[in-house]
Amino acid sequence: MIRETVVRPDPEATCRVLAEAIAEAAQTVLERSDRFSLVLSGGHTPETLFRQLAEGFRSEVDWTRVHLFWADERAVGPDDPSSNFGLARRWLLPPLGLPDAHVHRIHGERRPVARAAAEYEAELRSYWGVEGSKDPPASTFDFVVLGVGPDGHTASLFPPLPTGRPSREWVAPVAPPTLPPAVERVTLTLRVINRSDEVAFLVCGSEKQGIVQRILRGRNRGDQRLPAARVGARSRLRWFLDAAAAGPAAVGGPSRVATG
Ligand code: 6PG
Repeated sequence: MIRETVVRPDPEATCRVLAEAIAEAAQTVLERSDRFSLVLSGGHTPETLFRQLAEGFRSEVDWTRVHLFWADERAVGPDDPSSNFGLARRWLLPPLGLPDAHVHRIHGERRPVARAAAEYEAELRSYWGVEGSKDPPASTFDFVVLGVGPDGHTASLFPPLPTGRPSREWVAPVAPPTLPPAVERVTLTLRVINRSDEVAFLVCGSEKQGIVQRILRGRNRGDQRLPAARVGARSRLRWFLDAAAAGPAAVGGPSRVATG
């Protein structure tokens, strides 16, 4: 697995280089496959990425062959302002014109939330054609975009993660975290995320510098109780940071650093 840190001066430039990476990965995969699976995250930072993709990459990718998934969702309906799906629907979906059947959203409005998680796992099993299998396929998603919270959470995997054997779940219901929005969540687990071909963290803002340091210091091991430090990928794991999040020390991290 290649680990790389990409640093750009500001969030716009950071989201731009990530949008380029997504388009490049999609083009490469769609040369050999009839579909490309892209996992999105929520929170605030992705809004700029979604605008960049919608404004600058409509013709670079055959979006009719792209399937969208979510790393996690809050237990709210799609019209709720804190809906992760809602964020993408506001900025990304209309301009790209993906077929409805290719938009695999987590039904945050479903109750109990465990049912939303079970339904999403069934959706993944059907997408990968592994309805009956115990384990996720060796290769799950083509490209996953994740964020990081100041506490080291990613998707809706909140610290401290048990350090023992990872849970066998593919998709998990999550109790309300202490961080806002303090509502139940549904999240992909590391078992599914870490079998993805490429994973990209998008992290911007000086408030994230501390957690970036903790995760990227030393031999990339970082603090294993931090969910974001436990993320891996089959071929490439990249951190897309703006200078404020990267801070001075982080750029001396694990592997190649492209500052652009
Ligand atoms: C969520 C996200 C979460 C997010 C981080 C960073 O549903 O909250 O998926 O994991 O990526 O909290 O969020 P910001 O980009 O808002 O800092």
